[in-house]
Amino acid sequence: MWPKNCWYVAGFAREATQTLLKRKLLNQAVILWRTAAGKLIAMEDRCAHRLVPLSTGKVVNDQVECGYHGLRFGQDGACSHVPGQDSVPKNSRVKTFPVAERHALMWIWFGAADLADEALIPDLHWNDAPGWTAVTGYSHFNCDYRLINDNLLDLSHETYIHKHTIGNDSVADSPVVSKVINGRVVRAHREMPDIDPPPFFAAMQGHRGKINRWQIAIHMAPGFNMTEAGFHSVGSDRQTDACLTRPLHLITPETEHTSHYFWSLPRNFRHDDAELSSKIYDAVMHTFNEDRELLEIQDKALQAEGMPQIPQTAVKTDIAPVQGRRLLAEMIQREKDDPRFVLPPAPLADDAIVTMSFAEAAE
Ligand code: FES
Ligand SMILES: [Fe+2]
Repeated sequence: MWPKNCWYVAGFAREATQTLLKRKLLNQAVILWRTAAGKLIAMEDRCAHRLVPLSTGKVVNDQVECGYHGLRFGQDGACSHVPGQDSVPKNSRVKTFPVAERHALMWIWFGAADLADEALIPDLHWNDAPGWTAVTGYSHFNCDYRLINDNLLDLSHETYIHKHTIGNDSVADSPVVSKVINGRVVRAHREMPDIDPPPFFAAMQGHRGKINRWQIAIHMAPGFNMTEAGFHSVGSDRQTDACLTRPLHLITPETEHTSHYFWSLPRNFRHDDAELSSKIYDAVMHTFNEDRELLEIQDKALQAEGMPQIPQTAVKTDIAPVQGRRLLAEMIQREKDDPRFVLPPAPLADDAIVTMSFAEAAE
């Protein structure tokens, strides 16, 4: 259902404190916390004594104290203290997981621990790069994470699901070109020249004249998505005048049918405009709630039918999601064949990938 020998986003780095953060990721209940020196730790949320979740407890002197009988476990998971006795049972420990911090995100690895090389963390630098201001947020979806990837690779749905924010007829009506790059990244590109701005764009632009719009959905298995969304007024210059956003959609399975959706919307304009940031947050949450409602309905419908293969009727806009699913399935299969197999990330969206023209993408 998902590969394990790769880094997953466990949350935003700011979420980890000296208070235990409880989260289920890939069916594994974990607690995330920091030592007094700020080191990030991830442990199984399961006491080695009577299997009570450790999230019932708290951090005491850089150790986790269980909420039931006060056994303590150190950063390496080993039992370090048992109330009422001097010695600690030798082999008593809780499992720990490799974690890292990069791009203001927490990363976790559930595969073979010795393979957890931080060089394998995907490059998502827009989240904290100079020149970009990011609005970030979180949404919980009661659906298979693969449906979210499908949805992000097929933005023709904007016309129907998001007609009040980012969609209008021009989206579904415009041709899309899809391409697999480096055998690892799927890129779906749509150009929408000389169109009426959808409601949210009109608000960002400050007027209602016609725009040239484009969107480029870039996906890397298992759950990394970046959608460049750009537009500028007709008659202005694409290179110098475009309003550009590069939303990151970081999808981590919680269970087979529930998912974490961490998002970030970095922009290259009006950096200090707090009112715009708050409008973006509201608009994004509104938009993603529209996706969520539909995908949760879809997940239920698929479960009721025993999870058949989709699409059952293939149309042009399915090309990119089908390519994405194929790469994910290959990644899972190769890991099944060889549990030490690791597929390194490709650049999710370096300049060569993002700025490729529509004509080049169509080649
Ligand atoms: S169950 Fe955790 S200390 Fe007893
Ligand atoms: Fe959507």
